[in-house]
Amino acid sequence: MLTRRKLVTNAAALVASAAALRSFKSPARAEISVPMKVQRAGAAPLLLEIAERPTALPCFGGAKLPLWTFQDGSDFPVLRVRAGERFEAIVKNGLTRPGEHVTIHWHGLRIPNREDGVAYLTQDPIQPGTEGRYAFTPPDTGTYFFHTHCNSVEHFGRGLVGVLIVEGDEVAPSDHELVLLMKDWRLSPDKAFLPFTTDEGAAKAGTAGTVRAINGITKPVYAVPASANVRMRLLNVDPARISEIGIEGADAAIIAIDGNPCVPIKLDSWRLGPAQRLDILMRSPQAGATVKLIDYFSATPVVLAEFTAEGKPLRRDRFSAKPLKYGRARAADRKIAERVPFEFSATATGKAIADLAQAGIGLEIGSLCLSKRSFWAINKQAWSSSDNKMLGPPLAHLKKGNSYIFELKNLTPHAHPIHIHGHTFEVLTSSLRKILTHRADTVLLLPKERLEIAFVADNPGKWMFHCHILEHQETGMMGHFDVA
Ligand code: C2O
Ligand code: CU
Repeated sequence: MLTRRKLVTNAAALVASAAALRSFKSPARAEISVPMKVQRAGAAPLLLEIAERPTALPCFGGAKLPLWTFQDGSDFPVLRVRAGERFEAIVKNGLTRPGEHVTIHWHGLRIPNREDGVAYLTQDPIQPGTEGRYAFTPPDTGTYFFHTHCNSVEHFGRGLVGVLIVEGDEVAPSDHELVLLMKDWRLSPDKAFLPFTTDEGAAKAGTAGTVRAINGITKPVYAVPASANVRMRLLNVDPARISEIGIEGADAAIIAIDGNPCVPIKLDSWRLGPAQRLDILMRSPQAGATVKLIDYFSATPVVLAEFTAEGKPLRRDRFSAKPLKYGRARAADRKIAERVPFEFSATATGKAIADLAQAGIGLEIGSLCLSKRSFWAINKQAWSSSDNKMLGPPLAHLKKGNSYIFELKNLTPHAHPIHIHGHTFEVLTSSLRKILTHRADTVLLLPKERLEIAFVADNPGKWMFHCHILEHQETGMMGHFDVA
């Protein structure tokens, strides 16, 4: 990983890439409004009509690819609703491949279990040609996203993700806002989709995209007001990529993690795994100056996007990020919390799920949701490689209202973004690094690391608990617990 300081010594390389960026600045900017359509939810139910729509994104180099999207003419819908306001959606499954059913999972939202959108576990899947409905009132503000929950590697690979923003957290309004979806694409040199998964990737760090993009554009350039407080909602919706996010050319602070407001943290760099989100507040520079959003994780840092300041300066005060309004999730009582250990490992050494399922304690999850292979396990449970239709018995039974500390232990040499449905948790301690206690719905568990997370099991139902590197999820690193 390159640090900021090392990067400065690489200034020559950066100047070169900045020059290259400037040359396609205007086309990139003109295209920016095309893929994202902002819609206000609230009054009438929103229609999400999942279908294949041949689409040319700016990063496809002129090619049209068979994307699966939620709506005509908006490749990544951005839905906005206010906390406490009812949200309703009608979901039509217009996919034509036989058996390609869908459900919508509203990632990170603490909503009732029946709205959680996990096929078989919380609802019957929506079959092709049929429709379903979701209705809930988001209890917390923040930056969330939504996606299907079976065959997700392909669905994400074809672009089937949307953003859900729950407004109402700003005490001091920002001057400008950007929604930045980080998602790469797997394209062959002749601009067709490459296979969305590979055994090699599934068994290791996941299969990476070949074309990097923000909002479907490689290195977009966005105009922002000069000397202004700009809020960036950055979502890692990539199926596999882990980034180390930094900003060059502006003061910036992290103001929310996975939608949860935090004590503002000066942004040096922050590791962001699949499904994780960051809300960043930055003070843009003077007109004409440029800010870069950078991923330091690769061998040479990658410029993900640029922001050019324009117009009259809006602010003259010194930059200091004000905290957002805090959420309402109850904090766990750590003194009396019950500890539950979880080990994340390569494929089960213990009993295969299929055997457990045969014994009548499994739960049907459907072959579409699971790969034929199993490479990973939680607490030694994975699927046998024969017929993967069953999700095993619950990994834990939690008592409604009680506090829990989950001990997550990574026995593998790979990082895993571990996600819990229906709850937000506090990330408390790590065996490897200093943790700033913060709330999240997905935590990056580093190789060989042991993490402690705490939460109150206050949402009854059956909740998924899995790695969000989607190939890991579908090849065994997935389970559930119940709260009753
Ligand atoms: Cu975005 Cu089951 O998760
Ligand atoms: Cu994983």
